[in-house]
Amino acid sequence: MRRITIFDTTLRDGEQAPGCSMNLAEKLDVARQLARLGVDVIEAGFAIASPGDFASVREVARNVRGPIIASLSRALEKDIDTAWEAIREAERPRIHTFLATSPVHMEFKLKMKPDEVLAQAVAMVRHARNLCGDVEFSAEDASRSDPVFLCRVIEAVIEAGATTINVPDTVGYAIPDEYAGLIRRIREGVPNIAKAVISVHCHNDLGLAVANSLAAIGAGAGQVECTVNGIGERAGNAALEEIAMAIRTRAEQFGVTTGLDTTQIHAASILVSSVTGVRVQPNKAVVGENAFAHEAGIHQHGVLANRATYEIMTPESIGLPRNRMVLGKHSGRHAFDDRLVELGFRVDAASATRLFAEFKDLADKKKTVSDADIEAMVRGMQTQVPEVYRLERFTINSGSSITATSTVRLVHRDGGESERVAVGDGPIDASFKAIDKIVGKKIVLENFDLSAVTGGKDAQGEARVRIEHGGRRYNGRGLSTDIVEASLRAYLSAINVLENEEGSSDGSHRDS
Ligand code: KIV
Ligand code: ZN
Repeated sequence: MRRITIFDTTLRDGEQAPGCSMNLAEKLDVARQLARLGVDVIEAGFAIASPGDFASVREVARNVRGPIIASLSRALEKDIDTAWEAIREAERPRIHTFLATSPVHMEFKLKMKPDEVLAQAVAMVRHARNLCGDVEFSAEDASRSDPVFLCRVIEAVIEAGATTINVPDTVGYAIPDEYAGLIRRIREGVPNIAKAVISVHCHNDLGLAVANSLAAIGAGAGQVECTVNGIGERAGNAALEEIAMAIRTRAEQFGVTTGLDTTQIHAASILVSSVTGVRVQPNKAVVGENAFAHEAGIHQHGVLANRATYEIMTPESIGLPRNRMVLGKHSGRHAFDDRLVELGFRVDAASATRLFAEFKDLADKKKTVSDADIEAMVRGMQTQVPEVYRLERFTINSGSSITATSTVRLVHRDGGESERVAVGDGPIDASFKAIDKIVGKKIVLENFDLSAVTGGKDAQGEARVRIEHGGRRYNGRGLSTDIVEASLRAYLSAINVLENEEGSSDGSHRDS
């Protein structure tokens, strides 16, 4: 079977999506999970885009072993040099450089003639190859390019040293037959094509990203670019989990295989959703909450008689075990540790001990602790940053005929404590304002989302916030059976990310 290279761009194209920005620690967590998932290439970012992007690409390159680590760069010398600086310490670095080849991009965006584009692409691939043995060239907007010109560019960049050539459907315009035809045309029309891997990169504007990617694999593409949960520019990129499970479930149809450990898909999905704050739609293929739920009686009956009646893949194959024992306050450490492993989490002993203590606290409040509760706890731990401010206590006074008031007391990491009172439009608004007074920064709340982790009156509330300060955005999340507390914790965790990043917290706002 042909082995398809899985190129994950969650940290680059995925992160470019509105509201999907991640900080350095979050990117490292995601990169480590991608390595556990067994992706072949991690595109860690676009090194020249900002100092923060550069730092996160470099940290992923330094710390994550296994996959090739790539940085994107425009086809410009300074971009390529910066990309190389960021990835050079990787075990296996790759420079990924791109230049548009479609008439509309060349004329209106690049303001370059086709021959100038060709010359620039060749010169920059040559420059990249002088730095790095592994160079990918993307002909941006390839699916809307003149195929004759596209083939000329591909032949020339392979001659200049490109080891992978990417044929992006940048605007999600292609349809499967046509896109497969383009891949075939490249295979047949580019004389030196055997010297490079053909890659595909599809956007989902018409909901065809996965279908196009699979059609291209059928036509001979050797690498597929995708993101966890399909996050990415506009309607997103091809979803990694859908491609992986289509190839696995219909192996005889595609005749290809991947190096993925699909049992890590569920953990990857919840991690990405948690760090970006972007939820997965319930009916999303493979990783949606309902993807393995059978509601209709007739379906339930069929599945009970034989799973194959309505199930084409098992929940276990993506890391979602079933028929699990219910965990409660009498469950021991062994059962808890086993459940963590079943859910696809690899945590060290110290973290497992902390999680077990948290689990016991929760089990005291709730009759049973579900897998969703445990996942939420692990997400909380994975995304935790060192606390600059810790919530000591809060009191709210609220009702239908009074103005909501909140008193919040925070402890600063240097030991000082502050308490402030604020009124607001409801208890959460009042509490956030009290925190703002203590922190003393102009913080804009851009997004706030509150949901129950499970059903039931005793469900935990999970709050997610995105705040903006000084032009930068920070995500936070909080978990509690009390929804005001969950919201305060989420707000505070975003502020802690901000404080850690700025490194500017000197405790100047403390009272004692
Ligand atoms: O969509 C696209 O064309 C891209 C390239 C930079 C690979 O993301
Ligand atoms: Zn893209």
